[in-house]
Amino acid sequence: MVHPKSSNVYWHPGQINRNDRESLKGHRGLTLWFTGIPASGKSTLAVALEKELYERNCHTYILDGDNIRHGLNKNLGFSPEDRKENIRRIGEVAALLRDCGIINLVAFISPYRSDRQAARALSHDDGTFLEVFVDCPVEVCEERDPKGMYKKAREGLIKEFTAVSAPYEPPEDPEIHLHTGRYAVNECVQLTIDYLLRHDLISPKLPIVADTVFKEQRSPPGAMA
Ligand SMILES: Nc1ncnc2c1ncn2[C@@H]1O[C@H](COP(=O)(O)OP(=O)(O)OP(=O)(O)O)[C@@H](O)[C@H]1O
Ligand SMILES: [Mg+2]
Repeated sequence: MVHPKSSNVYWHPGQINRNDRESLKGHRGLTLWFTGIPASGKSTLAVALEKELYERNCHTYILDGDNIRHGLNKNLGFSPEDRKENIRRIGEVAALLRDCGIINLVAFISPYRSDRQAARALSHDDGTFLEVFVDCPVEVCEERDPKGMYKKAREGLIKEFTAVSAPYEPPEDPEIHLHTGRYAVNECVQLTIDYLLRHDLISPKLPIVADTVFKEQRSPPGAMA
């Protein structure tokens, strides 16, 4: 737990709250927290899922570990302390985005259970923090190795590499468990969408019905063309 450095800080309340913002968007602010070892498919799935959600009129944003290390977290390395701070910051950003009413897709290795738990705790178990375990055997990830990182780690060129020379603690009870070694990207996306629909976190897709209604409004039955 990190405490404020100064005791002279006060909360300034606003007039518009999370419910108001969520009503505006028509869906809850959610965090889908993708965790898994390198090359398990976190970024790939976050990108594919974001596209599917966007097409369903959801307001989304991806927080990707690699991208965030280019900016907000560029001063952090891969020691256990820096990894903890990396996740603490992104847990806070995810909470802010939930407060905005945005569906945020967090794609971070986030190897430590306690750090993920701390990020989850910010949601006060309101059902809007969903841990997505991107589960893939290390041999398959190493075979994929899209960034050549496993190779470098095996050669000793990268220290503290998760699943090679740094630990990964798998989730014990994730809301969504995706086996990316067995199922294709589109199947994993569909499983996630099905979960969100089943829990009323997004609305069913209605493009064909909406299109039909729109056409009927433009030209009522029997009207001259
Ligand atoms: N079902 C699947 N889901 C996701 N990725 C898959 C799947 N099947 C194969 N892949 C491939 O696995 C690789 C996953 O790479 P990706 O960069 O998404 O992993 P990552 O978990 O984000 O890794 P890192 O922690 O290094 O950022 C990609 O090349 C992707 O095409
Ligand atoms: Mg990634």
